[in-house]
Amino acid sequence: MPKPIFLLTLLPLPILLLLVLSRPGAQAPQQPQTTPAPTSSTAPTAASTTTTAAGANTAATTPAATVPPEAMRMVNPVKPTPNGLAHAKTIYGYDCAMCHGSNGNGQGDLAAQMKLTIEDWTKPASLQGKPDGELFYIISNGNGVMPPETGRAKPEDMWNMVVVIRSFSKQ
Ligand code: HEC
Repeated sequence: MPKPIFLLTLLPLPILLLLVLSRPGAQAPQQPQTTPAPTSSTAPTAASTTTTAAGANTAATTPAATVPPEAMRMVNPVKPTPNGLAHAKTIYGYDCAMCHGSNGNGQGDLAAQMKLTIEDWTKPASLQGKPDGELFYIISNGNGVMPPETGRAKPEDMWNMVVVIRSFSKQ
């Protein structure tokens, strides 16, 4: 009897979407699963309303780094381990170094190509006064030309990236 089971698995989807949509603001890193699911054939009304709302939800790239105060106050929940940090550094090499430089000096090839002026993280003063929560928020949501990392790396990896970035001034 495949049919009743199939319907059952579809049922929670609108409820899930409702839960996602009822969240105030987008301070928390967005779930990668928020992309509208193509379920219009089975649930026409729910699908049509949620598609537009979810679409508006994904526009998280703001030109200036406007980080909500709650996000600024977030404390790194991840205990950094050598393995975790090494993994974050590998992701940094793939996704960030082309702009921020493999040593964090802000002189990556793409930064030069795009004529970007990027903070030199090898200087301790560059990240002073910027709390972990702010860095995490910018990494997960992106900022202007900088793409969001959410969906490519796990929150745990993004928190470890905050530690990696801060370590560039200690070498
Ligand atoms: C297309 C180039 C580009 C890429 C790729 C990129 N960034 Fe950025 N990033 C920028 C620019 C430009 C800024 C804003 C200027 C600045 O703050 O130096 C910025 C700002 C930041 C900030 C805010 C702190 C600060 O110094 O202002 C953090 C943290 C950051 N990036 C981390 C990352 C991480 C981690 C990655 C990879 C997951 C990444 N960025 C990928 C261009 C980029």
